[in-house]
Amino acid sequence: MYIKDLSKYEGQEVTLRGWASNRRSSKGLEFVILRDGTGFCQCIVDATKVAAEVFEKAGKLKLESSFSLKGKVVKDERQLGGYEVHVSELEIYQIAEEYPIAKKEHGVDFLTDNRHLWLRSSRQWAIMKIRNRIIYSIHQFFQENEFVEMDAPIFTGNACEGTTNLFETNYFDETAYLSQSGQLYGEAMAMAMGRIYTFGPTFRAEKSKTRRHLTEFWMIEPEMAFFDIFDNMDLIEAFLRRVVSDVLRDCKNELTIIGRDTAVLENITKPFPRLTYDEAVRIIKGEQDVNGKNSIKELETELASVLAAIEATKKEIAEREEKIKTPGMKKGEIGFNQSKIDKLKQELADLEEQARNIPQWLNSARNFTYGNDLGGSDETVITRLFDVPIMVYNWPHAVKAFYLKRDPDDNRFARGVDVLAPEGYGEIVGGGERETNEQMLREKITEHELPMEAFEWYLDLRKYGSVPHAGFGLGLERLVTWICKLPHVRESIPFPRMMGRLLP
Ligand code: 4AD
Ligand code: MG
Repeated sequence: MYIKDLSKYEGQEVTLRGWASNRRSSKGLEFVILRDGTGFCQCIVDATKVAAEVFEKAGKLKLESSFSLKGKVVKDERQLGGYEVHVSELEIYQIAEEYPIAKKEHGVDFLTDNRHLWLRSSRQWAIMKIRNRIIYSIHQFFQENEFVEMDAPIFTGNACEGTTNLFETNYFDETAYLSQSGQLYGEAMAMAMGRIYTFGPTFRAEKSKTRRHLTEFWMIEPEMAFFDIFDNMDLIEAFLRRVVSDVLRDCKNELTIIGRDTAVLENITKPFPRLTYDEAVRIIKGEQDVNGKNSIKELETELASVLAAIEATKKEIAEREEKIKTPGMKKGEIGFNQSKIDKLKQELADLEEQARNIPQWLNSARNFTYGNDLGGSDETVITRLFDVPIMVYNWPHAVKAFYLKRDPDDNRFARGVDVLAPEGYGEIVGGGERETNEQMLREKITEHELPMEAFEWYLDLRKYGSVPHAGFGLGLERLVTWICKLPHVRESIPFPRMMGRLLP
């Protein structure tokens, strides 16, 4: 029996097993929050209604102790799941040792060091449930649309996305790389099956520590024969709409737990604006407005209000710190003010981070050089102006991967498309139409200083029944991060791998 099914057993006796995620005592009552992996439920042990030994056992439950209980399911609207359990019997599996991450104010590094335990917190639990729903939705979407799932190799002999962030490994005295992308294999499979998608781990030796980068992440890469870049964009839009809609419908509880304001997610039904690279650059530089909003002016206004908020917060902290020094102040009032001060200090830290970030964003927006790839700051600047994902297409060919098709209408551009998530999140999808001209590909491979012999098999695809085709890659963790509005991608995957992070 599981917590998620309690509504079916109202008024009946049930047996539940799990862990104590919280406990408080009050006048002959023990309130234990049981979590069993499917949810959280308040269980009440009443000294006047159970055997003395049961009440005593309940009182011994330290945080994260494992136990089972029997009790009656009672409706209570105030509870998150709508039900509580009035306990009659209780058996302990293990009384946990002092739980190391019990306090609220642990820093994120400490929590990440204890990721194996942090995963049990309600917020992390909710994020993992949402991640699971997203994964399921992705498979549903592709399977329902006649795509064949293919597993691309992890050991590869060639680079797909440039040579700067490859992980090398010894493969029986040959050099092998951990796959950066399954795309090239996906293209081969698409020529066999028509429509395919990969869903697998990918590796990039990202030497920078940013809120967007992992060294190991999961990528979903569909590849479609007979698709051009516009068909590709239509598919991306339908795909993301489906996944986000499923989460909105099926993860209401989880979204509430993490405090996600879903208004922006509901915009997923609106068309995604499609901007050329040229338009995107004009918007970033403040030469073109979006719905009456100008990137530079918005940032300047926001910086001014952040600076004002910093002053006001500092003042309030000082006032409260002065106040609690008043002789004879009641304990309760001191405690109340102290917790206010702690909260204000947290807010101040967030504001100060913004005050450091915004000038950097302004700087990179003002000085953006036409022809460059968009950096993290540029993506932040442009996507803060939108409340739906945007698609930026037709990129200067020099900044994009070797395999993208040159735009037949304008040779300066390649037919790549990036999807940028709103609210400052930035790139979640990269894709495009593939070059079909073998000679052009050979030139690009040489230009990128890639070893031609490792790509001969790929070039074969252009000799034997070459067709227009396109595809894209979605970074699963980037999507989870945006949907859950997480401050950093590390919370979107069970055990994040980043530079300097190999344990747990
Ligand atoms: O834009 P990228 O590099 O594109 C490709 O790999 C193509 N082969 C995809 C294709 O067309 N089949 O990566 C695709 C996506 C990015 O948009 C981003 O969401 C994610 O993969 N990604 C990362 N996610 C987390 N950490 C990293 N270091 C990432 N690098 C890319
Ligand atoms: Mg990209």
